[in-house]
Parts: sequence; C-alpha cells; structure tokens
Amino acid sequence: MEKTSIYGVIGDPIHHSLSPFMHQLAYTELKMPNHHYLPFHVRAERLAEAVHGMRALGIAGFNATIPHKESLVPLMDALDPMAELIGAVNTVVIDPSGRLTGYNTDAYGFITSLREIFSDPLRDLDILVQGAGGAARGVLAGLLQEGANRITLMNRTLSRAEALAERFARSFPDQPVRPLAWSNRLSGCRLVINTTSLGMEDEGAEVPDLDDLEAEAVVYDIVYAPPVTPLLAAARMRGLRVENGLGMLIHQGARAFEIWTGRVMPVVAVRQGLREQLGVASLGEIM
Ligand SMILES: NC(=O)c1ccc[n+]([C@@H]2O[C@H](COP(=O)([O-])OP(=O)(O)OC[C@H]3O[C@@H](n4cnc5c(N)ncnc54)[C@H](OP(=O)(O)O)[C@@H]3O)[C@@H](O)[C@H]2O)c1
Repeated sequence: MEKTSIYGVIGDPIHHSLSPFMHQLAYTELKMPNHHYLPFHVRAERLAEAVHGMRALGIAGFNATIPHKESLVPLMDALDPMAELIGAVNTVVIDPSGRLTGYNTDAYGFITSLREIFSDPLRDLDILVQGAGGAARGVLAGLLQEGANRITLMNRTLSRAEALAERFARSFPDQPVRPLAWSNRLSGCRLVINTTSLGMEDEGAEVPDLDDLEAEAVVYDIVYAPPVTPLLAAARMRGLRVENGLGMLIHQGARAFEIWTGRVMPVVAVRQGLREQLGVASLGEIM
C-alpha cells in the first residue's frame, strides 16, 4: 500500500484558511487518496514546539500564515533563495530525515496572477503598493524581480515602509522603492496594489479617492474575502480594470503543491471550487 503523506497549514487564527480546501480538492482531482492536508492552530509562542512535533510525526510539509512567516526563518535547516530574499517562509518541506527547507511562494503567486491580467513591462511603469506587512514583502520581491523600478510604497506606519525599502535596496540597488506616508487619495500611477488588510470583512475600510488615477490604471487588491473590496468597488465605478487576491492564493498554493508532490495543481478546477466555496458563482462576471 502507498505511504500516507500528511501536509498542513499553521497559523493563528487558522479557521478562515482556504488552503485545506484547495489542496484536498487537488488531491481528489488528481486521484491522490493517500495525501491529506489539515489546518493546525499554532500560537506564536508554541511555533518551535509545533515544528519539532511535525518533524517527529513524519509530516511531509506545511504552509504558514499570519503570524509565523518571519519567525520560521531561523528554524529552517536551509532556505530557498526567494525565502532568503523576502525574509519569510510560507512553505516548508520536511524530508524523511527531518531536515527542514523553507520556501516562499507568495512572490510567484502574486506575479503569476498579475500576469494573467496585465502583460505590460513593469520597467518604467509607475506602481503604487499599499502596505508594508508580510504580504507586501512577497509582492515587492515579485515586482522588483520583474524589473519594476518606479515603485512607491505607501504605509500607515511610514517607518515600516522605510525599513522595507531599505531591505530591498540591498538586493536591488538600481530599483529604489520610494516610501510614502498613508493617504486616501491615490494618484499618478498605472498599477495600484493593495497589500493591507483594509477591505477584509471586519476592517470597515474607508472608500479611497481615485479621481487622480490614470484612466488606464489597473487596481489589484490581494484581499479575496470579500471578493469585491471597497477599493475594487471604487475602481470599478471609475471603469478601471480590477483584480482580487484569489489568483495569488491559488498560484502560491499551486507552487507549494508542486514543490511537495512534483505534480501540477489543477488550477482551473481549484479556482472553480474556491469560487463556489466563497459563494461567488463567477468572479469573472462580477469583476
Ligand atoms: N491573496 C493572497 O494569497 C494573500 C497572501 C498573503 C496575504 N493576503 C492578505 O493580505 C493582507 C495583509 O496580510 P499581511 O500578512 O501583510 O498582514 P500584516 O503583516 O499584519 O500587515 C498588515 C498591513 O496592513 C496595514 N493596515 C492594517 N490595518 C490598516 C488600516 N486600518 N489602515 C491602513 N493600513 C492598515 C498595516 O499597516 P501598519 O504597518 O501601519 O500596521 C500593514 O501594512 C491580509 O488581508 C491577508 O489576508 C493575501
């Protein structure tokens, strides 16, 4: 009989995570009945203990979400170059000897989904990124690797934007990121990417003022629940092209799936399943 392979996702909170649904659906589609993916509620102070436990139990790998992505870095035996660049781990491979390798698939997930809707070169394009938290790191790494050299990084806590700009200046000295204080008025850019948690159901977001945005601007919000955030609703009202975070979620998961199993995630079926799970029959029609 084939060996059982167990994967999971750790976070606090974890009940909202769509990763178990996404990976289980992929196992079913690809007829991989010996693979299982579970949510694990792990508090920050018990992270090291949880990781030791997974190693001892022979768990094959896991994803990590808030608040563990950065704290996992020193617990790894080896880091993939992207995880090292970003300074955070969202995917861990545990080999049969218990050795831990940390990866970060957020930048891949973001860029793959962005490229599904936006094919222009990013060099010399004015890009505004909102937020300087964990998710912003993956988004910035992806944009910089794609050649973006005119990024403005806006954050409520300006010092966090400054620190992130400085971090990436070490790896991308010719593509400086310009930190900017938070403003509700967005102007002068072709691509807007929100990486803040503003717009999530319980956050009660202010409606942003988009009057000064270019008519051709594209607005991408990495939040996916609700599927249309106040930012995306305002952008649609102005007739701008919009995208939410479902594509990023799917592609970061697809990359982790491939790292663990060597198989390609059936993203079309997974996207459809997630839309149904989120109660949205067809995001394409909504967006
Ligand atoms: N689609 C995907 O695959 C994907 C992947 C990762 C994350 N996400 C989503 O991205 C969001 C952020 O995640 P994260 O890991 O980066 O969280 P995080 O590290 O906690 O960072 C939160 C960011 O949001 C800002 N923020 C929070 N409340 C705000 C408010 N009321 N006004 C203005 N800014 C506010 C914070 O600003 P301060 O620095 O001033 O606190 C910070 O920049 C979450 O909604 C998460 O679900 C989506």
